[in-house]
Amino acid sequence: MKDGVYTATQASRGRDQYETSCQRCHGADLTGGAGRSLTGDVFLRDWTGLTLDGLFERMQSMPPGGSAGLEAEAYVDIISYVLERNGFPEGGEELSTARLSGVYVEGDEGRDVVPNFALVRVVGCLAGSAADGWTLNSASPEARSSEPTPSIDAELAEVEATTLGDRSFNLMYVFPSPDAYVGHRVETKGLLIRDEEGTAVPPVHSLNVTSVQSLSETCEPAGR
Ligand code: HEC
Repeated sequence: MKDGVYTATQASRGRDQYETSCQRCHGADLTGGAGRSLTGDVFLRDWTGLTLDGLFERMQSMPPGGSAGLEAEAYVDIISYVLERNGFPEGGEELSTARLSGVYVEGDEGRDVVPNFALVRVVGCLAGSAADGWTLNSASPEARSSEPTPSIDAELAEVEATTLGDRSFNLMYVFPSPDAYVGHRVETKGLLIRDEEGTAVPPVHSLNVTSVQSLSETCEPAGR
């Protein structure tokens, strides 16, 4: 993504499409208005670590509750315009639908550094109680996710293959109570809240939980 993935001509076509179909909700400066911001920190938080095909799908279902029904190429042009407005460099070759799934959005720190408040998934061993709070132990590092709901299909296969690690996470706002899953190996999704001040190594981040799904009734970290 640091190397240009779209052309200036393409972004300018995208601008025309954007002004016709999207601007009334997302604003001339892309900061949102009646829609969601497609620029700055919000854009990076929503999309860092994800590929452009996710953005493409979201655009195809716009406006909410319907679709502008544009040609696939028109959405790719709008993506180019959004990238241009976010300061990503232009290149010599046009972006195409075929290339979307190979291009990751990334912030200054790279695509693997998940921004604060981004949606992530973690695999670990569930511990705790409603009274003392819930934690995930022996957990994997956080990975980016595009859906707040329990993983299915290809993402679930990836989750099941994830090895446990040495991380712990505090789980916040867990609802419904995951009581029945204590001691299970679980997938937890939520918004990442980084522990910026703590001294623990590795740091213990928190998750503002959106879903918990049991993967297995036992939770044995590898090599123990
Ligand atoms: C009628 C108003 C409206 C129009 C027109 C509209 N949007 Fe949206 N858009 C929204 C709202 C509201 C949201 C936030 C709620 C949601 O995600 O459904 C949103 C969310 C989005 C998102 C997700 C942002 C994120 O980071 O999660 C994208 C991408 C997007 N719009 C792109 C577009 C594009 C491209 C067009 C033109 C083809 C467009 N929208 C037209 C109202 C609109």
